[in-house]
Amino acid sequence: MFYLAVGPALFGDIAGHLKAAGLATAQSRLVVEKPIGRDLASACALNKAIASVFDEHQVFRIDHYLGKETVQNLMALRFANALYEPLWNSAHVDHVQITVAETVGLEGRAGYYDKAGALRDMVQNHMLQLLCLTAMEPPASLDADAVRDEKLKVLRALKPVDAANASRLTVRGQYRAGAANGGPAKGYLEELEGGVSDTETFVALKAEIENWRWAGVPFYLRTGKRLAARVSEIVVQFKPIPHSIFGEQAGRCVANQLVIRLQPDEGVKQWIMIKDPGPGGMRLRHVPLDMSFAESFGIRNPDAYERLLMDAVRGYQTLFMRRDEVEQAWAWVDPILAAWAETHQETQGYTAGTWGPSGSIALIERDGRTWHESL
Ligand code: BG6
Repeated sequence: MFYLAVGPALFGDIAGHLKAAGLATAQSRLVVEKPIGRDLASACALNKAIASVFDEHQVFRIDHYLGKETVQNLMALRFANALYEPLWNSAHVDHVQITVAETVGLEGRAGYYDKAGALRDMVQNHMLQLLCLTAMEPPASLDADAVRDEKLKVLRALKPVDAANASRLTVRGQYRAGAANGGPAKGYLEELEGGVSDTETFVALKAEIENWRWAGVPFYLRTGKRLAARVSEIVVQFKPIPHSIFGEQAGRCVANQLVIRLQPDEGVKQWIMIKDPGPGGMRLRHVPLDMSFAESFGIRNPDAYERLLMDAVRGYQTLFMRRDEVEQAWAWVDPILAAWAETHQETQGYTAGTWGPSGSIALIERDGRTWHESL
């Protein structure tokens, strides 16, 4: 097994040399790290170079989010329970939110990050993978191609974002000086040491999936560096009940919500309404059925990489991205990048240690919704 954690420009050369040296045999496997390209054309070129040496079944494209415990639990939750699947559609789901928030800044990766930005670094891969697993149809089995076929269909059904709608559907942000991890934090440009840059360190966007299951159900995505907390979660917001039989004194019926927490404190919270215990009539309360994996199982979750590298050794490709998936994700992201360039959509500043620019709040509030408070 050859594991390439190198700049993607070297993938093709290394694969070629492995072949020339007689090391690329039918038993070999090639593990490659993101970024797989910086747009559709470069991703296709990389995939082609790799394919000239290795067969697709020998190639393992890592997206470490797929190795996270809760991400796989999403599949268990959806497909090992009869409870959710009948509700998992536009008749019952109001919208979905996917947040991947980080408190770290550039971490000395300016050379790479400033050329990439949050859309390429996080949305094209991790965020779209989470969206796919949330939105895909039930695959017939956990077989690698069965799962990846379904994810690909979701990517193909994403409504295009272009110059006509980008300013309404997307927000770009860049952090200014503020606070992080209990101390002062520099702004992005200061971290670049005087550089001039409009690279986004934050993206919020509204994605729509044009198929029968999800028509009219927005998927709001946001990710950024130097945000208020490190938290990654998927929130499935169900629709409100159609009619309340309880009087005003009972309090408001809050719609059900399923919160799948990827990190930290991995777990699942199903928010439901119950009667406030005790005498005093019928008063309703919104409470979570709270399942913290650490508390319930008390075990150490393997790091995403431990699991993924072990899967590669075993030859299981289910949690790795297939060539067409990566290319389809770029095919959706490319027009967003082009629209930003064409319309000169600039980054909005946000103070380090906050939840991003005000435009992100406006993006969701325009639709009468709010971001889930992740703390
Ligand atoms: C990487 C990105 O893929 O994921 C980084 O390149 C980001 O910019 C990291 O910080 C986040 O991973 P995790 O597992 O810490 O959420």
